[in-house]
Amino acid sequence: MPLVDLAQLPKHVAIIMDGNGRWAQARGRLRTMGHREGSKSVRRVVRASRRLGVRALTLFAFSEQNWQRPEPEVVALMELLRDYLVTERRELIDNGVRLRAVGRIDKLPARVREVLDETIAETANLRGMTLTLALSYGGREEIVDAARTLASRVAAGELDPSAITEAALEREMPSISLGRVDLLIRTGGEQRISNFLLWGTAYAELYFTSKLWPEFAADDLYAAVEAYQRRERRFGQVLSDVGSLLSSSASGAWERQ
Ligand code: FPP
Repeated sequence: MPLVDLAQLPKHVAIIMDGNGRWAQARGRLRTMGHREGSKSVRRVVRASRRLGVRALTLFAFSEQNWQRPEPEVVALMELLRDYLVTERRELIDNGVRLRAVGRIDKLPARVREVLDETIAETANLRGMTLTLALSYGGREEIVDAARTLASRVAAGELDPSAITEAALEREMPSISLGRVDLLIRTGGEQRISNFLLWGTAYAELYFTSKLWPEFAADDLYAAVEAYQRRERRFGQVLSDVGSLLSSSASGAWERQ
C-alpha cells in the first residue's frame, strides 16, 4: 500500500489513458471492448481522486487526432462517453464533482453534446473536485485558438501587442483555468505527451507506467501520487496510510475500488 502525504497532494492531476486497444487485443477482443473496460477505470480513478482530495482531475478522453480512427471505433467511443455521463451523473452530483470539458466540443455528435451540456450545467456549482474531460482536444490547437483570440483583439485595436503575456494567453486557455498541471500520468508504456496539455504541463512532474489503462486502479493512482511526493522531496511530513484513512472515512457513495 503506497503511503501518501495528504497534506501535499498534487492539486491538478492529468491523465493520458493509453492502452485500451492493446488490452483488448491481448485477449482476442475488439478494441472497442478495451475502451469499454477503460471507462470502468475512469469511474475508479474519479472516485479515488475525489476521496484522496485531489482538486482537479483532467482526463484525455478523445484527442483532436482521434477523429482519424476507423469510424466504428469513433462511434463506439462517443457512445461510451454518453453512457458514462448518463450513468455517472447522479454519483458526480452526490459527491460534489463538477464536470467541465475542454476541446473543440462543437465537433462532438449532438447526442453526446446534449448530455455533456446537461451534466456540466447540473454540476456547475459543485466544488468537491473538478473533473475535466478533454474531448476533441489538442494542446497545440488550444494554444492556436488562444493566440487567434488575442490577435483579433489586437487587430480590432483593443489590445496592444505588448499586453500579450503568458498570463494573457493563459486567460484564453480553458485547460489552464484550474491551474497548471502538477502531475501528469500516462499509462500504456509510451513516454510522450501526445499533444495533451502542452502549456499546462510545462513544469508538471511526469509519471509513466506500463500498466494498460483498463488495469489502472486506485492503488496505481496512489503509487503515482507517492512518486510525485518523493520527487518533490517532501519528507518529514506526517505520512498517512491512505488505505486506513479511506476505509474509516464516511464518504457516502464512494466505495473503495
Ligand atoms: C487510448 O487507448 C485511449 C483512447 C483513445 C480513449 C480513452 C477512452 C476511454 C478511457 C473510455 C471512454 C472515456 C470516458 C471518459 C468514459 P488506445 O486505443 O490508443 O490504446 P492502444 O495504444 O493500446 O491502441
